[in-house]
Amino acid sequence: MSDTKLKRVDLIFGEYSNVKYKVLADTIKLPNDKILEDLLESGLRGRGGAGFPTAMKWKYTAQAPGDEKYVVCNADEGEPGTFKDREILTRVPRKVFSGMAICGKVIGAKKGFIYLRGEYKFLLPELLRELEGYHENAKSIGLDFSIEIRLGSGAYICGEESALFESMEGNRGEPRNKPPYPTTFGYLGKPTVINNVETFVNIMMIMRLGPIQFKMLGTTDSRGSKVFSVSGDTPIAGIYELELGMPLDRFVDEFGDGDTKAVQVGGASGFCVPRKKFKDTVIGFEGVPTGGSMMLFNSSRSMYNVLHNYLEFFEEESCGQCTPCRVGCQQLRKGIEAVKKGDKKSQYLEQLMKLSESMKLTAKCGLGQSVANSFSSIVYNFKEEMIY
Ligand SMILES: Cc1cc2nc3c(=O)[nH]c(=O)nc-3n(C[C@H](O)[C@H](O)[C@H](O)COP(=O)(O)O)c2cc1C
Ligand code: SF4
Repeated sequence: MSDTKLKRVDLIFGEYSNVKYKVLADTIKLPNDKILEDLLESGLRGRGGAGFPTAMKWKYTAQAPGDEKYVVCNADEGEPGTFKDREILTRVPRKVFSGMAICGKVIGAKKGFIYLRGEYKFLLPELLRELEGYHENAKSIGLDFSIEIRLGSGAYICGEESALFESMEGNRGEPRNKPPYPTTFGYLGKPTVINNVETFVNIMMIMRLGPIQFKMLGTTDSRGSKVFSVSGDTPIAGIYELELGMPLDRFVDEFGDGDTKAVQVGGASGFCVPRKKFKDTVIGFEGVPTGGSMMLFNSSRSMYNVLHNYLEFFEEESCGQCTPCRVGCQQLRKGIEAVKKGDKKSQYLEQLMKLSESMKLTAKCGLGQSVANSFSSIVYNFKEEMIY
């Protein structure tokens, strides 16, 4: 066991949460180029999972032709094991609104939306109260940027950015073909920046502290901190803000129950890391990235059951639009059931892994493309638990 604890960080939940939009008032006096320069310098990458460089996303949207542009905050938070955006919106909503308004100024948008997960409806009254305060403050500093909340209805796929726009437009939540990307064709077909809740808070704090101070946290590829949702076999489940780029073995030393055999990093669409690889695994964009979900499993858990559970989830949540995902998710689930019952030989698992890899190449969106992450990493590392 390592005796030094992982460093706790207080960038997201800490100070300035209740300051009445002073950082926003100061930031909107800056030229857009300076804001973009600072963002680029900070190295901030999106916190929704994929890690796209935020400054580039904003720059492309700012440069896209058209007067009508939008800012969307992705608060769908449907990834199994992730519950940190709920906490951020509860504790520091003004930081989220400030980040969105800074984005509006930079890209030339007058309107922003928070797409709130349907199950988080209970947050609505307080968020609306806070928004009243935001709008009064925006008016007093002469900022023409309003924010509205749109509620989802409980579909995981609506967290995917283009399906989210479809849902906001009143259509069935199905992903679009890409390109075009949201930077040129987003909500209502207009240039749109869509960022995760936590990404917007990071932006506000980069403007508050400056990019140099932000960069002091994390590693070269993974700057800053991350809010982690820790669950599973741990005595201290909850929300923790830690530096990015930590070694997984130190995380397990601190959060495990002494018998951790695997950590699922990044939810059902992420990777399962077995005990023997904890030491060589870095949590960050240079290693295994995560939108926040960290699920620990001890030796009492059946990894077959864990995988079966994920496959049922994907089968249920697949929008059904493309064949590799609609049929592939079902076949993977039926396939592992057949191997477990002894109806198929263990070699059949190799064929199933090939199927999941071809889904990665042929599925239309990130849902179908990411099934292989958990499938291959669980089957490969826990083969003995999959067989009859
Ligand atoms: C199936 C699926 C679900 C997703 N759910 C979310 C989500 O709940 N929240 C989120 O921020 N991003 C989610 N994403 C990623 C978004 O498409 C998008 O990349 C993200 O909102 C961009 O924000 P960022 O650059 O700040 O990370 C999801 C992607 C897929 C494929
Ligand atoms: S990969 Fe799955 S969720 Fe995505 S478009 Fe195809 S069927 Fe729908």
